[in-house]
Amino acid sequence: MSEHTSAVRRVFSEMVEALGPGPLREAALVEHVFPFFSRVLNREGIYLANHSLGRPLDQTSEDVREALDLWYADMDHAWGAWLGEIEAFRARIARLINWPRADAIIPKTAAGQGLRAVLNALPLTCPNIVTTTGEFDSIDFILRSYESRGRANLTLVEPDETGLFHADDVIGAIRPETDLVVVSIVCYATGQLIDGVEEIIACAHAEGALVLLDAYHAAGAMPLPHGSLNADFVIGGSYKYTRGGPGACWLAIHPRHLDRHEPELVTLDTGWFARKDPFAFQRGSIERAGDGNAWLESTPMVLSAYQARAGLELTLALGVDRLRGYNLRQQAFLIEQLRRRSVPVRETHPRGAFVLVPSADVKADVARLAERGVIADGRPCPSGRGGHVRLCPDILTTEAEMGEAAERVAGALLARGRQQS
Ligand SMILES: Cc1ncc(COP(=O)(O)O)c(C=O)c1O
Repeated sequence: MSEHTSAVRRVFSEMVEALGPGPLREAALVEHVFPFFSRVLNREGIYLANHSLGRPLDQTSEDVREALDLWYADMDHAWGAWLGEIEAFRARIARLINWPRADAIIPKTAAGQGLRAVLNALPLTCPNIVTTTGEFDSIDFILRSYESRGRANLTLVEPDETGLFHADDVIGAIRPETDLVVVSIVCYATGQLIDGVEEIIACAHAEGALVLLDAYHAAGAMPLPHGSLNADFVIGGSYKYTRGGPGACWLAIHPRHLDRHEPELVTLDTGWFARKDPFAFQRGSIERAGDGNAWLESTPMVLSAYQARAGLELTLALGVDRLRGYNLRQQAFLIEQLRRRSVPVRETHPRGAFVLVPSADVKADVARLAERGVIADGRPCPSGRGGHVRLCPDILTTEAEMGEAAERVAGALLARGRQQS
């Protein structure tokens, strides 16, 4: 562990001690956690887009600077510390999602890159893939691109008329010829937490298919649902709930696919870091590492491991259970504040970390909110009808802000009503 990491861990463990046991409380967070965020807390406006781009700690810019300073000071010798930080990143993600091994976490610059590494590992030229129409655009676009080039057959599971997906529909689409199932744990557009991930995995495995879960809206926001650890692959990233900015994403591979003498899955998204001994510089052999490193690629990203460090350390120190509990209480408070002002709220059960306000014109409503100093975003509903504004409080959001945000949302929606009438 680097000196810096141990120092940060010490500071965070003192902070956690100061917060006291039990559920997180606003007053304690204001006193003990807010000081780590002085830069972002200086900004104007009420930030409720924490589900989109999480807010960084002050420490994050110091961490990136540390990586760069090593370069200036040590030139080529910086690689030792840089590669050590990448290993630390893998270990942190393994802890975050409770994955049994750090070497089974493969750093990626995007979640979609994780999907492509899996597609490029399947021992078939045109795999049969079951997925839903509710996957995030990056995932959807990659899958459809493969299909358009004759590199995949897609079976697309549709939502019900309200835009919600059902595990039974995914299960119903899995056939003996299915090779891969790709499904989100939490849908990006509605926040719906898919109930029955465990059953989807069991069914896919019974038919001989692999499962890739997209955990981008789950990892860091909540403990991954029971059973998801049996998925063959999980993808996710750091720029939302773990405050790590873009570029620090990952693919988790179930250890049953590693360590085999002749593994069935060998990805073509590869490079010299996947070699058994990358620094032997020998030609001719394509012998890969005997563990998860067989899934590494070319020269890895370095800065994003540093960029993701403080946010991950903070998340791990506070614990995803406690963060989830606090977020659910905040959501309940925000919903109550909105409803008190007659703002319609859509509640899905179970759900991820954000609250939905139905909207017939998401772009216009988000712009109206921005004019009133409420930073949020919105997505079309997977049903194809209308959409929702997404509002996500986090540990830096106070009840006073949520009350004020509800007031401003009500004002924005009233303005919309006046324009429409
Ligand atoms: C569910 C989900 N998956 C993936 C991503 C990001 O994908 P990528 O890293 O390929 O851009 C997002 C981003 O919002 C998302 O919500």
